[in-house]
Amino acid sequence: MRSVIDILDLTKEEIAELISVAEDIIQNPDNYREKCKHKKLATLFFEPSTRTRLSFEAAMYELGGNVLSISDGESSSASKGESVHDTIKVVNCYADVIAMRHPKEGAALVATMASDIPVINAGDGGHNHPTQTLADLLTIHREKGTLDNLTVGFCGDLKFGRTVHSLIHALTRYENIKVVLISPEELKLPDYMLEDMAAHGLEYVETTSLEEYMGELDVLYMTRVQKERFFNEQDYIRLKDSYILSPEKLMPAKSDMIILHPLPRVNEITVAVDEDPRACYFKQVLNAKFMRMALILKVLEEATK
Ligand code: CP
Repeated sequence: MRSVIDILDLTKEEIAELISVAEDIIQNPDNYREKCKHKKLATLFFEPSTRTRLSFEAAMYELGGNVLSISDGESSSASKGESVHDTIKVVNCYADVIAMRHPKEGAALVATMASDIPVINAGDGGHNHPTQTLADLLTIHREKGTLDNLTVGFCGDLKFGRTVHSLIHALTRYENIKVVLISPEELKLPDYMLEDMAAHGLEYVETTSLEEYMGELDVLYMTRVQKERFFNEQDYIRLKDSYILSPEKLMPAKSDMIILHPLPRVNEITVAVDEDPRACYFKQVLNAKFMRMALILKVLEEATK
């Protein structure tokens, strides 16, 4: 069964194909209106979400399919102690494909072991968020015309940031990528990720300064310091405003640098930056829906082979 738990579950060629299908959906939406007629997507969200759940659901509706949803673990039998394994067994009786978000790392993998239908990881703790990465890659491709030869800065919570981890994994496959890792000492990228980048020959540098490499970046990927990942509120309060991107901070940046953010934003990008033509984070939201449409089509096609 074709599930997508990690962005590396998709080959580089498959990602190129998904980008191509997403572009076709954007150009010819009417051709896709009935592609998933009579199919059902179950969105199982045991952790809060706005974009991911709604865009999966919008994606399925735009493909002519239907949606079943758990939007809050507290309103499901998980709150009575039902395991992920049993929940997935049950949902297999109702749906054709599952998109699941869970606060525990590895929960999506556990779900695949119980499932005879495809499972798409919609975020598992601080681990992976592959469909956000698909949205990021489509946005970079649309805005820069390539996924090669880019200097990409990641700023904020690089320790727990699952969107950062997934996108860096994806970038290890492209040519001549340089990565600038901008974070406080306490939120540095985990060692296993640094080792992975080194193993793939990805050039990287770590810094605590948002300003230091600003003029070299082609893509600046801002992230939120995530309150929900901290054990100690004092640490969160101390670190939450480590970086605040403003029009002044952008002055040394290239005129064609793009600014991405998986959202939600708290304070890390001022609202004034939204007016800058380089701000692409709301385009990212829309692109996510098209990539999720392409992915739902792909896993359902493979499931019926
Ligand atoms: N980017 C993202 O995962 O947003 P949500 O948490 O709102 O789904």
